[in-house]
Amino acid sequence: MCAIYVDTTMSEDERRQRLYAGDLFVNSPAKSSAELCALAREMSEEAFAPQDPPLAQDSMPAEEYAQILADLKPRFIHHPRAKELIRGILAEAGCDIEKTYFDVPRLRTMAHGDYMRAGLALQFHPHRDTWFSAPYAQLNWWLPVYEVEPENSMAFHPRYFDAPVKNSSSVYDYDEWNRTGRQQAAKQITKETRTQPEPQEELEMEPDVRVVTPVGGVLIFSGAQMHSTVPNTTQRTRFSIDFRTVNIDDLADGEGAPNVDSECTGTTLGDFLRASDLEPLPDDLIERYGAAASTA
Ligand SMILES: [Fe+2]
Repeated sequence: MCAIYVDTTMSEDERRQRLYAGDLFVNSPAKSSAELCALAREMSEEAFAPQDPPLAQDSMPAEEYAQILADLKPRFIHHPRAKELIRGILAEAGCDIEKTYFDVPRLRTMAHGDYMRAGLALQFHPHRDTWFSAPYAQLNWWLPVYEVEPENSMAFHPRYFDAPVKNSSSVYDYDEWNRTGRQQAAKQITKETRTQPEPQEELEMEPDVRVVTPVGGVLIFSGAQMHSTVPNTTQRTRFSIDFRTVNIDDLADGEGAPNVDSECTGTTLGDFLRASDLEPLPDDLIERYGAAASTA
């Protein structure tokens, strides 16, 4: 079973346990979450002016579009206001900002039709983030920047939450990816050539679960959830924000979702910053996870 809790009043500790067990949580728009979406809209509108961002792909070649995104996305990632607003979102959601660490928020786009299918608009195969060296205690936070519909959102495949899937995660090493993969992303427009963990067996993709949240609403799920980007069959490009969190007590205690099938090496924990003051996680914890992943 996969339950979807909306605006729950349960404690944050219990919420994390339920997320690690495969449930999903949705929070209605609040001050900081609405403001983060507004910041993304403002920056996108400036970058694509005079076009409306969800419609801009209809009036420019894919190469030009990719160039605008190559400039816009890093500017959003590194915007100091975005980090402050994430701290606010976590506080609004009841997280202890002294114990919660996040990685930078990413702005993502999914063009409709066949316009762009790689690189910065990468259409992800069904995957778990834990195939990409994410810790099992990772939670993903997802916010639409403009209104979404089931046909341009993301899909969950909950039947695979605790069922192993044959996959190629053993080819993935986060440190290696950091050295080479990111720089190449901006150069790839329509053809994906980088090595990515993916399923190596046919998955039953239907029925899936799609959660349509309002702009400024927040969807929270475990990094071990099997999820995918749905082919965008609407007439509008999807713009969304996501970031990840970990709770330091859960990392220390080895809490998190079960590992049913991941064999990647390395850890992404070096990217996480404490919500209260942007300090990184202690080195020994990062090393412990990096070492554990590489011997798994
Ligand atoms: Fe993902």
